[in-house]
Amino acid sequence: MTSATTLPTRTLGTNGPRVSALGLGCMGMSALYGAADRAESIATVHAALDAGVTLLDTGDFYGMGHNELLIAEALRTAPAAVREQALISVKFGALRTVEGRFTGYDGRPEAVQNFAAYSLQRLGTDHIDVYRIARLDPDVPIEETVGAIAELVEAGHVRHIGLSEVGAETLRRAAAVAPIADLQIEYSLLSRGMEDEILPTARALGIGITAYGVLSRGLISGHFPRDRALAPGDFRSNSPRFQGDNLRHNLDLADRLGKVAERKGVTVAQTAIAWVLAQGEDIVPLVGARRRDRLAEALGALDVTLDAGDLAAVEAAVPAGAAAGERYSPAAMADLDSER
Ligand SMILES: NC(=O)c1ccc[n+]([C@@H]2O[C@H](COP(=O)([O-])OP(=O)(O)OC[C@H]3O[C@@H](n4cnc5c(N)ncnc54)[C@H](OP(=O)(O)O)[C@@H]3O)[C@@H](O)[C@H]2O)c1
Repeated sequence: MTSATTLPTRTLGTNGPRVSALGLGCMGMSALYGAADRAESIATVHAALDAGVTLLDTGDFYGMGHNELLIAEALRTAPAAVREQALISVKFGALRTVEGRFTGYDGRPEAVQNFAAYSLQRLGTDHIDVYRIARLDPDVPIEETVGAIAELVEAGHVRHIGLSEVGAETLRRAAAVAPIADLQIEYSLLSRGMEDEILPTARALGIGITAYGVLSRGLISGHFPRDRALAPGDFRSNSPRFQGDNLRHNLDLADRLGKVAERKGVTVAQTAIAWVLAQGEDIVPLVGARRRDRLAEALGALDVTLDAGDLAAVEAAVPAGAAAGERYSPAAMADLDSER
């Protein structure tokens, strides 16, 4: 297996790296979406690299290090040519209990050094390509957290600085300290909150967007059965959008999107991803494929062109603000600087 294919590429912000126009989010291979198959996860990472995906996203808290170790194994067992193209984006800062409960975020400079030291060991690399705190630590000014990452850049341990789920004011403060490559934030037909203020601010500051949850965690994928039983510990079992009437309403929206997709001769997931791709060259969707068949479907979105008529049909099927339920539980919403 050598890099068989190249994919279209996009640049993360004014100063960030050039990456494949779709990135692979690896979270579900370790945590939050029920049991994952390790061999299939690694085969999926290999297939992504082989197809030309160059951006892998993880967090040190995804399975408490499990996800970084999985990526390290996948890279170790991939051919050198594709391994060298892979850029790894890592989130840090989440504090968890042994049982897995989230208890807060730590963005102190000494914590940044500590988190990075452990990530580099687990990943088996000498640098992290994009490093970001997962959520703003309300007790630590963003200048201090970003300043600590900037020191890691200076020392060669990190290449680029990112942010995650922060609002416009935090973007401005962070960008005043050091160049910021990208903001990682939920963005999909069902989650359009960043469009009013955050996206224009990122654009004005030359900060790119890596969009996650582009399938709304499976809701608008065309593969979510109405009667699906969610395992305990599955993020979606506590997510407002996946409960009762909200779930029914949101899956009705997915059905409406399905009608547009059918007319185009593509799948629901491909239409949802293509819609995000069409919102700007500065946006790179991360897809949470955990299996090769899902990955192949997601990559197919890069061949889907939505013209003005298609985009209007998609937005008529799923208008802005149509989703029922918030995108996180009330406790998790309170951690989102981007929602203030
Ligand atoms: N910065 C942050 O706060 C943050 C938060 C969450 C995630 N992320 C990152 O973003 C990545 C993507 O997020 P996500 O996984 O929540 O979003 P997603 O891509 O919207 O959802 C992934 C889910 O969609 C389902 N799916 C169905 N068809 C698919 C297809 N063709 N391709 C891919 N998935 C398909 C998968 O289900 P099955 O596997 O069950 O089939 C999977 O459970 C994560 O892996 C993580 O790296 C960042």
